[in-house]
Amino acid sequence: MKTIIEPFKIKMVEPIKMTTREERERFLRDAGNNLFMVRAEDVLIDLLTDSGTSSMSAEQWAGMMRGDESYAGSRSFFEFEREVKKITGMKHVIPTHQGRAAERILFKILHKPGSVYIGNTHFDTTRANIEFVGDEAIDIPIPEGTVPSQYHPFKGNLDLERLERELRAHGPNVRAVIMTVTNNSGGGQPVSMANIRAASEIAHRHGAMFILDACRFAENAFFIHKREAEFADRSLLSIAQEMFTYADGCTMSAKKDGLANIGGFLALREDALAMEARNLLILTEGFPTYGGLAGRDLEAIAQGLREVLDESYLVYRIRSVEYLVDKLSQAGVPLIIPSGGHAVYLDAGAFLPHIPPEQFPGQVLANELYLEGGVRGVEIGSLMFGKTNPATGKMIAPKMELVRLAIPRRVYTQSHVDYVAEVVLAVFARRQGLRGLRTTYEAPFLRHFTARLEPV
Ligand code: F0G
Repeated sequence: MKTIIEPFKIKMVEPIKMTTREERERFLRDAGNNLFMVRAEDVLIDLLTDSGTSSMSAEQWAGMMRGDESYAGSRSFFEFEREVKKITGMKHVIPTHQGRAAERILFKILHKPGSVYIGNTHFDTTRANIEFVGDEAIDIPIPEGTVPSQYHPFKGNLDLERLERELRAHGPNVRAVIMTVTNNSGGGQPVSMANIRAASEIAHRHGAMFILDACRFAENAFFIHKREAEFADRSLLSIAQEMFTYADGCTMSAKKDGLANIGGFLALREDALAMEARNLLILTEGFPTYGGLAGRDLEAIAQGLREVLDESYLVYRIRSVEYLVDKLSQAGVPLIIPSGGHAVYLDAGAFLPHIPPEQFPGQVLANELYLEGGVRGVEIGSLMFGKTNPATGKMIAPKMELVRLAIPRRVYTQSHVDYVAEVVLAVFARRQGLRGLRTTYEAPFLRHFTARLEPV
């Protein structure tokens, strides 16, 4: 059959609330024109994130009921550990309450004064945890990775030539090369096995570790299966397993490809490092067999990891994102191509060329999608990443002005996605009339979460 269907049926439903345009105008005004401040119940289709927003399966809920809540040596931990080991092949599996907790522990134990990390693009929390201990994070995506309209099958790849150069420049200060799969900040774009292999080889040759930020490892494995000839006949599990063979460790947010609502882990090969990690874990997260999670959460993740590499799930998952990208790009809406794993990234800079970066085109577009049809996305542009030049007081804009529409896993149906496309197209039709925003309040760090804005 040509039609790709949702590979599940629905036995529990959660109502979503219809609101009027007038109500949404009021909600957004009260929220200081910042969608982070709007209540979720006032959102019709919530595409703020794919993190922790998955629908769980009947088997995951059954696992929740079986969860063993013992403090030490819980059966649920061994269930979880077995699944993580099966995929990653790592000797040590350390549960954490989410991905950033694994990052915090890893970058604390690897820290030496002057440490440097090099990655395809560090996710915000990864960079923040590196900088928090006083170290440096350097992003070296391939050049195609930062041009929205340019096609490349593995736009998430790391620039290998630059990697050699950076490693020579920073010498033994480079503690690790961090490969984020898929590359969230660069558009949810995949990394090829060839690139993973080569980056790992180069890192090791220079005495640096190679670490995977594995949040979306299953989506990445699927792209390798589809786009890298060598892997056309390989199972998704064996592709995922091979990705991990090149790594000395990984951090993982199980809120993405763990298909769970909370959880994560740090996995390592080396005994001494794992010992240090567990000591820190006990201090801040919990005993090594639960690490900040309930036994029932460990069950949900174990089962999620069994389900996420299912081919019919990934075919549906990747196609449902591509379906939205196709619909929008056929109508001329500027966006990142090709479509990535978990989200559609609208190119707000090209969508609203008359609004300069200082007036936050991404935020304007995200707000209009909400006003138009109750759809909530997130700005990834000058509000999130703009920095102020201390000499001139002017804003230094990031390379791209994007709005991310992240698709929660197994939550929305095709008609929801059709509706989202209709909303985007309605805003696209009246784009010339949209005006910029300015901030009336901003916090010194991570201003996008709490900023208040008004029309210019
Ligand atoms: N790494 C990547 C690539 C991520 O996308 C995220 C989270 C994390 C690490 C941190 O994991 O949230 O469990 O602590 N990304 C979410 C998002 C928040 O919306 O993209 P966490």
